[in-house]
Amino acid sequence: MFQRKKPDASKLCQAFFAEFGAGDEARTRDLNLGKVALYQLSYSRLVFTKNIVLCEDQNYSITTNYMSNPTQIRSDFDNALQTLSLDRHNTLGLACRAKRVLTLSSLAQLPHITALSRDHHDLFVLGGGSNVVLPAQLDRVVVQVALKGIALVEAGAPGHDSVYRIDVAAGEGWHHWVETATQRGWFGLENLALIPGTVGGSPVQNIGAYGVEVQDRIESVTAWHIPEGRLVTLSRTECAFTYRDSIFKRADPGTWLIVSVRFLLPKQWVPVLNYPDLQKHPMLAGMTADTVTGQQILDAVCEIRRTKLPDPAILGNAGSFFKNPIVPASQYVSLKQKFSDLVAYAQPDGSYKLAAGWMIERSGWKGKRQGSVGVHDRQALVLVNYGGAQVSALLGLAQDVRSAVLAQFGVPLEMEPVVVSDSPSAS
Ligand code: EPU
Repeated sequence: MFQRKKPDASKLCQAFFAEFGAGDEARTRDLNLGKVALYQLSYSRLVFTKNIVLCEDQNYSITTNYMSNPTQIRSDFDNALQTLSLDRHNTLGLACRAKRVLTLSSLAQLPHITALSRDHHDLFVLGGGSNVVLPAQLDRVVVQVALKGIALVEAGAPGHDSVYRIDVAAGEGWHHWVETATQRGWFGLENLALIPGTVGGSPVQNIGAYGVEVQDRIESVTAWHIPEGRLVTLSRTECAFTYRDSIFKRADPGTWLIVSVRFLLPKQWVPVLNYPDLQKHPMLAGMTADTVTGQQILDAVCEIRRTKLPDPAILGNAGSFFKNPIVPASQYVSLKQKFSDLVAYAQPDGSYKLAAGWMIERSGWKGKRQGSVGVHDRQALVLVNYGGAQVSALLGLAQDVRSAVLAQFGVPLEMEPVVVSDSPSAS
């Protein structure tokens, strides 16, 4: 185990900000609180080594002694709200103007988020914007989560059962975190490479790809319960993860603000290679579970995704626009009799997950364009914005696709992204 050093205030701050890059004045300036508060919050729980901050416990309890002048801070906080275009903050590239946007760059701001929600009753927490359909005008207070940091909590003693426990702040980019972990030899996330969005968004929709879901690698999630104004650490079980869903996604918007995610990566890594796309990939040809590395899987996954899925920086999209529907075995059997090439995956509970992309393609929608929106020509589950699309056009297309699949297969498709209403009264 690592050794606790007596913290030296200035060195600790320097190391923290040097490592996490949180010393960016622009990001921490808004309450003139960021650095001080982070330091105070971090003081008792951090020891550091040369390259990485090690945190000895997960006690994120907010100390309030920094609030020497809460009224002033509150007014600074309100003033920090700014009108912002969110066009570049949602991967669908929908035009969205938000009247009040606040960047959350320090844990010290959390109590004020609660105060703000009590004043305005209409908070909306935005991560990477990779799973949202935003309205043209957003009248809610938008909180953009920019909390940064990756902290190895436990590196474990050498031995078969030991694990890496790593806390990652919600504002870290998901792919950046996957790359960082893989480069350090903390394997287990490589199948989830190149998924757009932030670490904080990953548990909300329980992101998944190529045989792994993020819930398989999460030990707990620490989140600010906005209405009650307190930090809560939810175990994996308490997060109630299911396919592309969690307690966070089911709750009313403005309930949870995820602060950090604790990942648990066993040192004795077992690669997941059973997904068909990985099995047939040339970069992994001849590899076995004993010879393959996490980096090789990451590279193959990136290559597959780049081939199949549009890059949101070039063509607006939110990844899969529909979930793969799960149906009872009896329905699967009758569909299979009718459509012998139906693609479906047996689930542990006896039900079947149907490949919605296959059904959309079979109903003739793959590659179809309707004005500024369309169904991607290489992956029918993905709807794209060719530029300048209105929300109504996108949702209209989604409805047409749903109707076609329902008519042909009798299976209703459920949308994966969250459609954000322009104001709370509209939800
Ligand atoms: N398929 C088609 N036509 C299509 C698309 C797919 O016939 O246009 C067939 C494929 O040939 C394959 C099957 O459907 O037999 C499954 O396709 P694929 O492997 O591309 O995966 P998917 O089920 O369409 C899911 C996730 C993706 C994830 C991939 C890989 C959902 C909603 N989507 O897609 O996640 O990358 O598996 O694991 O579960 C996302 O959620 O945004 C996302 C991209």
